[in-house]
Amino acid sequence: PSTYAPTALPPLPSGFAEGLKDVVLPDPLGFGKLMAPVMAIAHYRDGSWETPRLAELGPLDLAPHTQALHYGQAIFEGMKAYRNLGADGGPPLLFRPYEHARRFNRSALRLGMPEIDEQVFVRALEELVAVLEPFVPARRGQSLYLRPTMFGATADLSVVPSTEFCFVVLATPSDAFFTTPVSAWIERHYSRAGAGGTGCVKAAGNYAASFAAAAPLRENGFHQLLWLDAVEHRYLEEFTAMNVFVRRGDLLYTPPLSDTILAGITRDSLLALGPSLGLKMEERPVDIHELTDAIRAGEDVEVFGCGTGAVVAPVELIGDETGMRLPLPSQATALELRERLLDIQHGTTGAPDGWQHTV
Ligand code: PLP
Ligand code: COI
Repeated sequence: PSTYAPTALPPLPSGFAEGLKDVVLPDPLGFGKLMAPVMAIAHYRDGSWETPRLAELGPLDLAPHTQALHYGQAIFEGMKAYRNLGADGGPPLLFRPYEHARRFNRSALRLGMPEIDEQVFVRALEELVAVLEPFVPARRGQSLYLRPTMFGATADLSVVPSTEFCFVVLATPSDAFFTTPVSAWIERHYSRAGAGGTGCVKAAGNYAASFAAAAPLRENGFHQLLWLDAVEHRYLEEFTAMNVFVRRGDLLYTPPLSDTILAGITRDSLLALGPSLGLKMEERPVDIHELTDAIRAGEDVEVFGCGTGAVVAPVELIGDETGMRLPLPSQATALELRERLLDIQHGTTGAPDGWQHTV
């Protein structure tokens, strides 16, 4: 087997960072369309990581038999740097970066990859965001979306874990993933994750596995798949890129974490914030029939998704392949939680320790 020997990327040319200062960002930005021109990158070989460093965004030198391309040894994180809109302003803020570092390492271990030191992970993000500060958009709700990624880089077609890895952090100035209420398509046939699988980590393949299921969703004009459990197709799991919450009266609940549900950092944040809105929080299984019956009965029911990309996205319609279409008139709690979270993320209000990390 050949080993991964990437061409060393040159460091940023002198004056490169200064040259970025006059950038004018388009409006709207969309999500993940416009790549910032700098990335952080580090390689792992001979059992250790080199220190991540900044380089101009450019192609990676990969053999066609690179392990990740065939066997999917690849993980990622999604996080954001927000413009500090607090009274005193200041450098951009990362939201709970150490939580993302820890989840990245859980994903790495699950896929047989080496962990990366949490401090090193966060330091790479700080350095990247400091250079890319002009790419942190100014408007509330916008952000510099950050995409730490790790993939098995050994060029070897035998089905064994890589021994070389590439860690790369990309950045893309973005609007929120959803800027208007979403419609949710209940997936009745496929499953996102099974017991003992990789559903609870951010494995790249989890997302690839959702694409075929998403075709009818798009044909019907819906936004997100709402996945049910793989055994009975009865209990809500999560959306393709968000955790799910249901509010009935003053009770706000979300499915308990398991090995088939991603431990969302936004989910965890909402569980902490909910009581300040007078809500009773509960982690418990949510039966899809119970939910649709309550909506049909005209009860005070709200459904929303939450995640880094989306922040909080109210659901205005639930549908499925049988032609079921259930509108959800209420969005107030989702919108209120969204504003609370954005206040924290943009530094206009205080927050628990570690939630507002100055770059
Ligand atoms: N579930 C899935 C499958 C996701 O991709 C995401 C997004 O990262 C989430 C949930 C929400 O996680 P977080 O709030 O940490 O972004
Ligand atoms: C997130 O970061 O919120 C994600 O889940 C990434 C998604 C856009 C695939």
